[in-house]
Amino acid sequence: MQRQRPDLPSNDKRWKLVNATMRRNGYAEHALIEALHSVQDAFGFLDEEAMTFVADSLDLPLSKVYGVATFYHLFMLKPQGRHACVVCTGTACYIKGAGGLIDGIRQHFDVAPGETTEDKALSVLTARCVGACGLAPAVVLDGSLVGKLGAEQLIERISREIAE
Ligand code: FES
Repeated sequence: MQRQRPDLPSNDKRWKLVNATMRRNGYAEHALIEALHSVQDAFGFLDEEAMTFVADSLDLPLSKVYGVATFYHLFMLKPQGRHACVVCTGTACYIKGAGGLIDGIRQHFDVAPGETTEDKALSVLTARCVGACGLAPAVVLDGSLVGKLGAEQLIERISREIAE
């Protein structure tokens, strides 16, 4: 009998990318690392919601998923900052200036990808494709997709978010 798979956590398109990776691997346990990679590529980091979804989908205990996620340094767990800015550095976004966005953020907020500002206000991450190539360069700011912004506009957006 076929096992019931969990519903996608939300209608965010990125869950479909993660789900497709697991489906392609037949929801097999050995595909856990690949599933976590696809979460990181799409979201920029692993949080509890994502790890729970992967655990339920692959029928694994959450502790095992946490174990793998924290053992391998290539995985980035949910950042410490009160706000999170994920800059997509996939090909489409890179061509459209993702590098400039990262430079702008670095200069303005003094924080590099993978880091959090000293006051813990902002964490910056990168993703490999957030599934919105048409909006390149795409950024996910506190869970909301923002696209086609230049560095200055993005910095303004982030500053507003932090000030709220
Ligand atoms: S490469 Fe950035 S959204 Fe696809």
